[in-house]
Amino acid sequence: MSNLERRVVILGSTGSIGTQTIDVIERLNQRGYAFAVVGLAAGRNIDRLVDQVEHLRPAAVCVKERTGQEPLRKQFPTLRVLVGESGLEELAQLPGVDLVVNAIVGAVGLPPTLAALSVGRTVALANKESLVIGGELVTQFLNKHGGAIIPIDSEHNALFQCLRAGKGTEVRRVILTASGGPFLRTPKEKLDRVRREEALQHPNWTMGARITIDSATMVNKGFEVIEAHYLFSLPYEKIDVVVHPDSMIHGFVEYHDGSLLAELASPDMRIPIQYALTYPERVDTDLPRLAFQEISQMSFEPLEQDRFPAFATVLHAAGQGGTAPAAINAADEVLVQRFLAGDIPFTGIARGLDAVLSRWLTECGDLNPASHGSLSLDALLAADRWAREAARELSF
Ligand SMILES: NC(=O)c1ccc[n+]([C@@H]2O[C@H](COP(=O)([O-])OP(=O)(O)OC[C@H]3O[C@@H](n4cnc5c(N)ncnc54)[C@H](OP(=O)(O)O)[C@@H]3O)[C@@H](O)[C@H]2O)c1
Repeated sequence: MSNLERRVVILGSTGSIGTQTIDVIERLNQRGYAFAVVGLAAGRNIDRLVDQVEHLRPAAVCVKERTGQEPLRKQFPTLRVLVGESGLEELAQLPGVDLVVNAIVGAVGLPPTLAALSVGRTVALANKESLVIGGELVTQFLNKHGGAIIPIDSEHNALFQCLRAGKGTEVRRVILTASGGPFLRTPKEKLDRVRREEALQHPNWTMGARITIDSATMVNKGFEVIEAHYLFSLPYEKIDVVVHPDSMIHGFVEYHDGSLLAELASPDMRIPIQYALTYPERVDTDLPRLAFQEISQMSFEPLEQDRFPAFATVLHAAGQGGTAPAAINAADEVLVQRFLAGDIPFTGIARGLDAVLSRWLTECGDLNPASHGSLSLDALLAADRWAREAARELSF
């Protein structure tokens, strides 16, 4: 056995990916590896964060709001307790850290990714918004400061693994698989009336609320196409999507010589998380493994665009480049919240995204930095604010 030792910071430690990351680290340490969690960041779930601090004894933590600092300071007098976005950035740059796991949900995850990369850190990236919104900036930071990204998202983790088998110039295309979500077979005329609880019921994965709804609308798959574009420097026409309801194959890479490489694993996020934590090594695990009886029943089908109109809207925004993906992400964050709050119907998410993108094209398209060649974090955040407002104003 190798003597893997790593000092890790986990941003978004109280969420679905964050808690699974801690679970994987505990399993690895039980096997004799030495993963030390030196920093944790959470939003509002202070009780869970307190338990994690008790258990993992990090040197520093960050919480979203000032009110969250008090209980931590009281209980752990020597703990450094940071707050807000500047605290996230400080945590992302803690000295002596080998890996920053970014498992925050939403646009708020982009600045800490940039902060970590600006000091040459390796980022195990679950926060897909970092690439959806800031793909160009992230690429610039990677080129300038020499950090690295290891994708946690299962599809990109799969592609990352399959791409180790050949050169970039040998790739004909990559294919992302999509489960199809809870409404793959729902009659289209009923989609307007599906309830929040039904949309939150993903058939194969247990995830945070936002990505679960994004999987039901296929916004998530559009975002994943953008992620793949930046992560692997691939033009959009070389990135395909296929619906694979079994969620056993997570991604394919097709090479020019006709070889199609696939990564298969149980639909359990702890498998790509472990790969990201131990990369470039692979170590043994007691996590669930795929059985051959299951593999013999796999199926594939094309993505039905008129069932999932938001997929095309996200790709349209991706094609515009510049601040358009930031705007579509921000609008989606608001529309998903509005749907979860019972304020708009499920189909309102797709209609709302289309409306915000149409407004962006008429009001902001000419100002888009993509047409001028300069893109700053400020421009992205301004587009984010503009689109949130536009999405809040929509009525259905
Ligand atoms: N879950 C999956 O299986 C999966 C798979 C692939 C990719 N991803 C991506 O991974 C990311 C996380 O997803 P998730 O499902 O784990 O989400 P989640 O369960 O909702 O967890 C989100 C985490 O972010 C924290 N957070 C939210 N706002 C924050 C802020 N302003 N400051 C600091 N922390 C904040 C939350 O803290 P509190 O809970 O304490 O408020 C929580 O720890 C997303 O980008 C998602 O698209 C997830």
